[in-house]
Amino acid sequence: MKKGKSIFVCSECGYQSIKLLGKCPNCGSWNSFIEEYYTVPVSAVKEIVEPTKFSEIETEEIDRIKTGIGEFDRVLGGGIVKKSFILIAGEPGIGKSTLLLSVSGKLSRNKYKVLYISGEESLTQIKMRGKRIGIDSENIYLLTSSDINSIKNAIEKINPQFIIVDSIQTVYNPEIPTIPGSVTQIRENAIFFMKYTKNNNCSTFLVGHITKEGIIAGPKILEHMVDAVVYFEGELRTNLRILRCLKNRFGSTNEIGVFSMEEDGLKEIPDASKIFIQDIEKSTTGLTIYPALEGTRTILVEIESLVTPTYYGIPKRTVSGLDYNRISLIIAVLEKKLKFNFNTYDVYVNVGGGLKINEVGSDLAVAISCISSLKDLLPLKKCVYIGEIGLTGEIRGVENINLRLKECERLGIEKAIIPEKNKNDVSVKNIKIYPVKFLIDAVKISLNL
Ligand SMILES: Nc1ncnc2c1ncn2[C@@H]1O[C@H](COP(=O)(O)OP(=O)(O)O)[C@@H](O)[C@H]1O
Ligand SMILES: [Mg+2]
Repeated sequence: MKKGKSIFVCSECGYQSIKLLGKCPNCGSWNSFIEEYYTVPVSAVKEIVEPTKFSEIETEEIDRIKTGIGEFDRVLGGGIVKKSFILIAGEPGIGKSTLLLSVSGKLSRNKYKVLYISGEESLTQIKMRGKRIGIDSENIYLLTSSDINSIKNAIEKINPQFIIVDSIQTVYNPEIPTIPGSVTQIRENAIFFMKYTKNNNCSTFLVGHITKEGIIAGPKILEHMVDAVVYFEGELRTNLRILRCLKNRFGSTNEIGVFSMEEDGLKEIPDASKIFIQDIEKSTTGLTIYPALEGTRTILVEIESLVTPTYYGIPKRTVSGLDYNRISLIIAVLEKKLKFNFNTYDVYVNVGGGLKINEVGSDLAVAISCISSLKDLLPLKKCVYIGEIGLTGEIRGVENINLRLKECERLGIEKAIIPEKNKNDVSVKNIKIYPVKFLIDAVKISLNL
């Protein structure tokens, strides 16, 4: 292939520029541009496909294969869809290889032929991990190569029903004049796997590493190519691991899968509702409980806040597991409407256990935990806080209040501060309900202010 004119590509999002830029105007990353060359992409070879009449297209039932790892199947919408092309993304060391090797083990035990391609580890390393997590299967073929030609050759010979590519960043096509992991390499090689998956009776998993900031380095450009994007996340210092779907062409993206990383592999945690809270028996300043809705399950989580005086310049807001802008908004409402002074304080807000929450229903729990820490007051014991905070300080309703409260009841919660709007939907008997219209009412009840 001829080397053409050079072009600069953002390695985070794939944005192209003819000049070298310091900051990407598309995704905002710094120093992410690398030089690549205009070439005729391998995928752009002439191929003429005729259009088909809508009425003549035959539909197929979505056929799913259950791996038997319940938490994994649940996240994918009830199993792996045949001929699907899935991206599994996560930080290095989180357990992607372990998860996919377990999945391979289960599939091969059900007599499916699996080709596990690793460009990162040796055969011995993979075998050792396999032994550690108890894989003893005949039907897994391992290939430790990153050259697309040996990969194509292996696929042709083995004709697998499942292909695992660990990772797509390491796959390399020598015909493309850029380094492995570059946007062009990733895109072109992924197109090969995509076409192979769609044209053959096979499903493919691509592993993609992401950076600490949560960006899939390079594979961000893959998100629109694949049928499902699954994130494997958690805090490396703890054992808890969460599998979450960000996109799914064959199912909902609400469900999460919860695992614990153990010496002998990933263990499923099907009853995850209590795993993220420590002790409901005692009350702690800065700590509130929120019943988060994750798909069809309610999971109780701890919202922790620490509010401390600012010693240097501008007050800091550090947020993990929640939306940063949402926290700024809650603090702004607390300052303007309730006259709490946060402008000389640093605020740290965290969701315990490494879970990420993207529901606005957690606003009230955040607000109460921040005031509790600011004023050093204990919030109510065995109490949950549910509600979205509006800009005028009103509490807005949330969805599925009963589903949340039923789980709270089962786990021994005794009180709930909920939006007034949801009051008539409640059917639980053993929880004392405090319906509130405004944030100020919730503050009075829970902190006795
Ligand atoms: N001998 C071991 N005992 C227990 N846990 C281990 C052992 N070896 C590795 N691990 C766990 O597995 C993790 C690495 O998993 P891996 O699947 O290789 O991650 P990834 O593929 O996402 O980089 C380590 O961070 C560690 O938690
Ligand atoms: Mg790995």
